[in-house]
Amino acid sequence: MAILKIARMGHPVLKCKADAVKDPTAPEIQHLINDMRETMADAGGVGLAAPQVHVPLRLVIFEIPETRLGEDHETTEELVSQVLINPIVKPRSEELTGGWEGCLSVPELRGAVPRHTNIHYQGVDEKGTLIDREAHGFHARVVQHECDHLDGVLYPMRMTNLTSLHYISEMRFNSGDLPPIGTS
Ligand code: NI
Repeated sequence: MAILKIARMGHPVLKCKADAVKDPTAPEIQHLINDMRETMADAGGVGLAAPQVHVPLRLVIFEIPETRLGEDHETTEELVSQVLINPIVKPRSEELTGGWEGCLSVPELRGAVPRHTNIHYQGVDEKGTLIDREAHGFHARVVQHECDHLDGVLYPMRMTNLTSLHYISEMRFNSGDLPPIGTS
């Protein structure tokens, strides 16, 4: 395994539409997933898309902290660590929710981003097993953020009010506010 270099905003690999993974079970894809897991853990992110490590393929990984899953998820264990290959994401309603996001490709910044509250997503995992799931809240936000990377979209491009774009080091929170986690 290896820790991979993360591309930052401005690199061409983050601007292009990534290609479909032809064989999700191929050894080189398993190798890539292992390296991405190690890279994400090292960087302290909750998600990582293959283009962020200079591989323009439709593959993302994410880990939803159990504390962010909400009480209505029964499938905690399978959601904690997730590989999603060739994903299709569709909103289940027009409802949008704002929330703080960060990105390993946009270091040191956080911004408030409106995302669909409820989504349906499909794809396959590294064994080629079909994933077909509904998600809401933070889970839905992470999936939308990661899958945007596959189409060359970074979270600042989804912001509707740039006054919330902040350096983390300059942010001040009232006690009780949720800290801005979610770098992916
Ligand atoms: Ni990101």
